[in-house]
Amino acid sequence: MSDQRIWDIARGFQPSRILLTAVELGIFAEVGEGAVESVHVAERIGADARGTDRLMNALVAIGLLEKEGDRFRNSEDARENLVPGKPGYVGGALLHNVRMWDAWTYLTESVRGGTSFGRVQHEQSPDQGESFMAAMHNVSTQRAVEVTPLMDFAGVANMLDVGGGSGGYSIAFCNANPGLKSTVLDLPEITPITRRYIAEAGLSDRISVVEGDFNKNEFGDDFDLVYLSMILHQNSNVENVALLQRAWRALKPGGRAVVHEFVLDEQRVSPPNAAVFSLNMLVATPEGDSYTESEIGGWLTFAGYKDVMRRDVPPGLSALMIGTKP
Ligand SMILES: C[S@@+](CC[C@H](N)C(=O)[O-])C[C@H]1O[C@@H](n2cnc3c(N)ncnc32)[C@H](O)[C@@H]1O
Repeated sequence: MSDQRIWDIARGFQPSRILLTAVELGIFAEVGEGAVESVHVAERIGADARGTDRLMNALVAIGLLEKEGDRFRNSEDARENLVPGKPGYVGGALLHNVRMWDAWTYLTESVRGGTSFGRVQHEQSPDQGESFMAAMHNVSTQRAVEVTPLMDFAGVANMLDVGGGSGGYSIAFCNANPGLKSTVLDLPEITPITRRYIAEAGLSDRISVVEGDFNKNEFGDDFDLVYLSMILHQNSNVENVALLQRAWRALKPGGRAVVHEFVLDEQRVSPPNAAVFSLNMLVATPEGDSYTESEIGGWLTFAGYKDVMRRDVPPGLSALMIGTKP
C-alpha cells in the first residue's frame, strides 16, 4: 500500500463530514433548483457567511455543488438525492449517519473497553427515531427486492416481523403475496412511525403493529413465519439464543424462523461491510456484533430448529439463515 493510499484512508472522514454538515444545515434544500450566492444561503440558514461560503466551496470540490461566478447550484446527484421532496431524497436517512458519527468518535475508547463508550446515548429522541427509520426504510425497500424471491411463503398466512422498523420488509412481502398478513413488533417510540409508513403503503388492513421489547416480551403462538431482520447484531450471544427461543414459541409446528443478517465468514473479515459493521455495534451497543454462519446456525439448532440453511442475498452483503420448527 502506498503512502498516498494511507493518507487517503486517514482523511476519508473529511468528505463524509462535509456532506453530513451540509445536510444538517439544510444547504441543498436552500439551493434547491436555483443558483444562489453563499451569503444568501448563510442568511437563510442562520449561519456565518464565511463559514457557509467555505463549506459550499468544499461541496463544489467533492462534486455535490457546482459554481459559476459567485453563484452555486446543486449538482445532478444533489438535486436528485439531497433536495427534500424529490423521489430519491435520502437526506433524512443520512441524518442517522450523524448519530453514528457521534458514536464512532469514541471508537478508540470502545476498543479499549470492549463495549460502547459511556457517552453514547442508547435512547432515541423523536428526531433520531425519524432519521433511523428513514435510513432503515431506504435500505429495506431496496434490499427487499432481492430478499422477497428467496423467501418461501408456501403455507404462510400469518407472519411476525420482529423489530420490523419502518415495516419495509412486511410491506414488500405483503405486496408480493396477496393472502399474507403480517404483525410488526417494535419499541413504543418507533411504532407511530411504523404505522405511518404502512398507511402510506396502503396496507394498514393487512399489517398490524404492536409495541413490545423483543428481549423481554412473548410474541404469541400462532405464526407461520417469524422474520428477524437486522436485529440479532445488536444483541449478545445469550440474548440471541433467548430471542430465537421466543420466536420458536411464537411459531406453529412446521413454521419457520428467518434471520436476515450481515453474515461474516469464519475468519470475521469478509464481506468487508460486515467486518466494518461489527465496529458499528461495538461503538453503539453494549454487546452487539456481526456474527458468523456457524454462530447463527448454532443458536438456531440449540433453540430446536431443524433443517437449518443459508441463502445468500445478492449481491452478497447479507444472508438469510432459516430454521424450521418440526
Ligand atoms: C436495525 S433496525 C432493523 C429494522 C428492520 N427489521 C429492517 O431490517 O429494516 C432494528 C429495529 O429493531 C428495533 N428494536 C431495537 N431494540 C428493540 C427491542 N428491544 N424490542 C423491539 N424492537 C427493538 C428498532 O427500533 C429498529 O426498528
